[in-house]
Amino acid sequence: MNNIIIRSKTNSDHKILENFMTLYWGGEPLIVHGKKYFTKDLEGYLAFNNTKCIAFLLFERQQIDWEIIVFESFSKFSGIGTKLLNALFDEAKKNNCPQIHVMTTNDNLDALRFYQRRGFVLSGIFLDVVDYARSLKPSIPALGDYDIPIRDELILVYRF
Ligand SMILES: CC(C)(COP(=O)(O)OP(=O)(O)OC[C@H]1O[C@@H](n2cnc3c(N)ncnc32)[C@H](O)[C@@H]1OP(=O)(O)O)[C@@H](O)C(=O)NCCC(=O)NCCS
Repeated sequence: MNNIIIRSKTNSDHKILENFMTLYWGGEPLIVHGKKYFTKDLEGYLAFNNTKCIAFLLFERQQIDWEIIVFESFSKFSGIGTKLLNALFDEAKKNNCPQIHVMTTNDNLDALRFYQRRGFVLSGIFLDVVDYARSLKPSIPALGDYDIPIRDELILVYRF
Protein backbone atom coordinates (compact mmCIF):
# COMPACT_ATOMS: atom_id res chain seq x y z
CA MET A 1 0.00 0.00 0.00
CA ASN A 2 1.38 3.39 -1.01
CA ASN A 3 1.14 6.74 0.75
CA ILE A 4 0.68 5.37 4.26
CA ILE A 5 1.26 7.97 6.92
CA ILE A 6 1.36 7.21 10.61
CA ARG A 7 1.08 10.14 12.97
CA SER A 8 0.25 10.87 16.58
CA LYS A 9 -3.35 11.59 17.51
CA THR A 10 -4.30 15.25 17.79
CA ASN A 11 -7.36 17.05 19.20
CA SER A 12 -8.72 17.38 15.67
CA ASP A 13 -9.11 13.58 15.51
CA HIS A 14 -11.80 13.39 18.20
CA LYS A 15 -14.74 13.47 15.83
CA ILE A 16 -13.41 10.81 13.50
CA LEU A 17 -12.59 8.50 16.42
CA GLU A 18 -16.01 8.98 18.00
CA ASN A 19 -17.58 8.07 14.66
CA PHE A 20 -15.48 4.91 14.40
CA MET A 21 -16.48 3.96 17.94
CA THR A 22 -20.13 4.33 17.00
CA LEU A 23 -19.72 2.31 13.83
CA TYR A 24 -17.54 -0.54 15.09
CA TRP A 25 -17.46 -0.65 18.90
CA GLY A 26 -21.07 0.06 19.90
CA GLY A 27 -20.23 3.69 20.75
CA GLU A 28 -18.35 5.19 23.69
CA PRO A 29 -17.32 4.56 26.38
CA LEU A 30 -15.08 1.55 25.95
CA ILE A 31 -15.15 -0.77 28.93
CA VAL A 32 -11.84 -2.35 29.93
CA HIS A 33 -11.61 -4.18 33.29
CA GLY A 34 -14.91 -2.54 34.23
CA LYS A 35 -13.43 0.94 33.69
CA LYS A 36 -14.89 3.43 31.21
CA TYR A 37 -12.62 5.01 28.60
CA PHE A 38 -13.35 7.79 26.12
CA THR A 39 -11.20 8.16 23.02
CA LYS A 40 -10.81 11.92 23.57
CA ASP A 41 -8.84 11.21 26.77
CA LEU A 42 -6.39 8.78 25.20
CA GLU A 43 -3.22 9.31 23.24
CA GLY A 44 -2.11 7.21 20.33
CA TYR A 45 -1.50 6.88 16.62
CA LEU A 46 -3.56 6.98 13.46
CA ALA A 47 -2.69 5.55 10.04
CA PHE A 48 -3.83 7.26 6.86
CA ASN A 49 -3.88 6.10 3.27
CA ASN A 50 -3.79 9.45 1.50
CA THR A 51 -6.47 11.29 3.52
CA LYS A 52 -8.45 8.24 4.65
CA CYS A 53 -7.96 6.97 8.19
CA ILE A 54 -7.40 3.21 7.92
CA ALA A 55 -6.32 2.27 11.46
CA PHE A 56 -5.73 3.62 14.93
CA LEU A 57 -4.19 2.53 18.21
CA LEU A 58 -4.96 4.35 21.47
CA PHE A 59 -3.21 3.74 24.75
CA GLU A 60 -2.90 4.97 28.31
CA ARG A 61 0.29 5.60 30.27
CA GLN A 62 -0.29 4.03 33.66
CA GLN A 63 1.73 4.10 36.85
CA ILE A 64 4.33 1.63 35.67
CA ASP A 65 3.39 0.11 32.35
CA TRP A 66 1.28 1.27 29.42
CA GLU A 67 -1.97 -0.25 28.24
CA ILE A 68 -3.38 -0.50 24.73
CA ILE A 69 -7.04 0.48 25.13
CA VAL A 70 -8.34 0.29 21.58
CA PHE A 71 -6.71 -0.88 18.38
CA GLU A 72 -8.52 -1.18 15.07
CA SER A 73 -7.41 -1.72 11.50
CA PHE A 74 -9.87 -1.25 8.64
CA SER A 75 -7.30 -2.56 6.23
CA LYS A 76 -6.57 -5.88 7.87
CA PHE A 77 -3.68 -8.15 6.89
CA SER A 78 -1.70 -5.50 5.05
CA GLY A 79 0.84 -4.70 7.77
CA ILE A 80 -0.79 -1.52 9.12
CA GLY A 81 -1.45 -2.97 12.58
CA THR A 82 2.21 -3.96 12.87
CA LYS A 83 3.30 -0.44 11.88
CA LEU A 84 1.09 1.13 14.57
CA LEU A 85 2.32 -1.31 17.19
CA ASN A 86 5.91 -0.52 16.25
CA ALA A 87 5.19 3.20 16.67
CA LEU A 88 3.98 2.46 20.19
CA PHE A 89 7.02 0.26 20.92
CA ASP A 90 9.37 3.06 19.78
CA GLU A 91 7.68 5.61 22.04
CA ALA A 92 7.62 3.17 24.97
CA LYS A 93 11.34 2.41 24.60
CA LYS A 94 12.18 6.12 24.47
CA ASN A 95 10.31 6.54 27.75
CA ASN A 96 11.86 3.48 29.43
CA CYS A 97 8.44 1.90 29.77
CA PRO A 98 9.07 -1.60 31.13
CA GLN A 99 6.01 -3.27 29.65
CA ILE A 100 2.86 -2.84 27.62
CA HIS A 101 -0.28 -4.79 28.29
CA VAL A 102 -3.52 -5.23 26.45
CA MET A 103 -6.87 -6.82 27.16
CA THR A 104 -8.75 -8.77 24.57
CA THR A 105 -11.78 -11.01 24.83
CA ASN A 106 -11.85 -14.79 24.48
CA ASP A 107 -13.45 -14.70 21.02
CA ASN A 108 -10.74 -12.53 19.48
CA LEU A 109 -8.61 -15.26 17.98
CA ASP A 110 -7.13 -12.94 15.33
CA ALA A 111 -5.89 -10.53 18.00
CA LEU A 112 -4.51 -13.39 20.11
CA ARG A 113 -2.55 -14.55 17.09
CA PHE A 114 -1.45 -11.02 16.23
CA TYR A 115 -0.14 -10.18 19.71
CA GLN A 116 1.53 -13.52 20.44
CA ARG A 117 3.31 -13.47 17.07
CA ARG A 118 4.70 -10.07 18.08
CA GLY A 119 6.16 -11.07 21.43
CA PHE A 120 3.23 -10.61 23.82
CA VAL A 121 2.58 -13.44 26.29
CA LEU A 122 -0.60 -14.29 28.12
CA SER A 123 -0.46 -13.01 31.68
CA GLY A 124 -3.99 -13.28 33.03
CA ILE A 125 -7.54 -14.30 32.48
CA PHE A 126 -10.65 -12.89 34.10
CA LEU A 127 -13.48 -15.35 33.67
CA ASP A 128 -17.06 -14.24 33.02
CA VAL A 129 -16.33 -10.54 33.51
CA VAL A 130 -17.84 -9.46 30.20
CA ASP A 131 -21.30 -9.81 31.77
CA TYR A 132 -20.38 -6.94 34.07
CA ALA A 133 -19.03 -4.88 31.15
CA ARG A 134 -22.30 -5.59 29.33
CA SER A 135 -24.28 -4.28 32.29
CA LEU A 136 -22.40 -0.94 31.85
CA LYS A 137 -22.60 -1.06 28.06
CA PRO A 138 -25.52 -3.14 26.77
CA SER A 139 -24.35 -2.78 23.14
CA ILE A 140 -21.58 -5.35 23.76
CA PRO A 141 -22.86 -8.28 21.71
CA ALA A 142 -23.41 -11.80 23.02
CA LEU A 143 -21.44 -13.35 20.18
CA GLY A 144 -18.08 -12.18 18.92
CA ASP A 145 -15.68 -13.29 16.23
CA TYR A 146 -16.46 -16.67 14.68
CA ASP A 147 -19.75 -16.59 16.65
CA ILE A 148 -17.90 -17.39 19.87
CA PRO A 149 -19.77 -16.22 23.02
CA ILE A 150 -17.89 -13.22 24.50
CA ARG A 151 -17.29 -14.07 28.16
CA ASP A 152 -13.76 -13.56 29.43
CA GLU A 153 -11.04 -10.92 29.40
CA LEU A 154 -7.56 -12.13 28.55
CA ILE A 155 -4.50 -10.04 29.36
CA LEU A 156 -1.35 -10.15 27.26
CA VAL A 157 1.88 -8.43 28.14
CA TYR A 158 4.94 -7.36 26.17
CA ARG A 159 8.10 -6.94 28.27
CA PHE A 160 10.95 -4.81 26.95
C1 LIG B 1 -5.56 -6.88 15.53
C2 LIG B 1 -5.53 -5.93 14.36
C3 LIG B 1 -5.51 -4.49 14.88
C4 LIG B 1 -4.25 -6.18 13.53
O1 LIG B 1 -4.20 -5.25 12.46
P1 LIG B 1 -3.73 -5.66 10.98
O2 LIG B 1 -3.63 -4.38 10.20
O3 LIG B 1 -4.56 -6.73 10.42
O4 LIG B 1 -2.25 -6.20 11.27
P2 LIG B 1 -1.13 -6.73 10.25
O5 LIG B 1 -1.61 -6.62 8.86
O6 LIG B 1 0.12 -6.02 10.62
O7 LIG B 1 -0.96 -8.25 10.67
C5 LIG B 1 -2.07 -9.17 10.57
C6 LIG B 1 -1.76 -10.59 10.38
O8 LIG B 1 -2.45 -11.07 9.23
C7 LIG B 1 -1.51 -11.75 8.32
N1 LIG B 1 -2.01 -11.73 6.96
C8 LIG B 1 -1.55 -11.04 5.91
N2 LIG B 1 -2.30 -11.29 4.82
C9 LIG B 1 -3.27 -12.13 5.24
C10 LIG B 1 -4.39 -12.70 4.59
N3 LIG B 1 -4.64 -12.45 3.29
N4 LIG B 1 -5.20 -13.49 5.32
C11 LIG B 1 -4.96 -13.74 6.63
N5 LIG B 1 -3.91 -13.21 7.28
C12 LIG B 1 -3.08 -12.39 6.59
C13 LIG B 1 -0.28 -10.98 8.59
O9 LIG B 1 0.86 -11.65 8.11
C14 LIG B 1 -0.34 -10.95 10.08
O10 LIG B 1 -0.21 -12.26 10.51
P3 LIG B 1 0.92 -12.84 11.45
O11 LIG B 1 0.48 -12.48 12.83
O12 LIG B 1 0.86 -14.29 11.20
O13 LIG B 1 2.19 -12.16 11.03
C15 LIG B 1 -6.72 -6.15 13.40
O14 LIG B 1 -6.84 -7.52 13.15
C16 LIG B 1 -8.05 -5.63 13.91
O15 LIG B 1 -8.42 -4.47 13.70
N6 LIG B 1 -8.85 -6.47 14.57
C17 LIG B 1 -10.21 -6.08 15.05
C18 LIG B 1 -10.10 -5.22 16.28
C19 LIG B 1 -9.30 -5.90 17.33
O16 LIG B 1 -9.45 -7.06 17.57
N7 LIG B 1 -8.38 -5.15 17.94
C20 LIG B 1 -7.51 -5.66 18.98
C21 LIG B 1 -8.27 -5.86 20.24
S1 LIG B 1 -7.31 -5.40 21.62
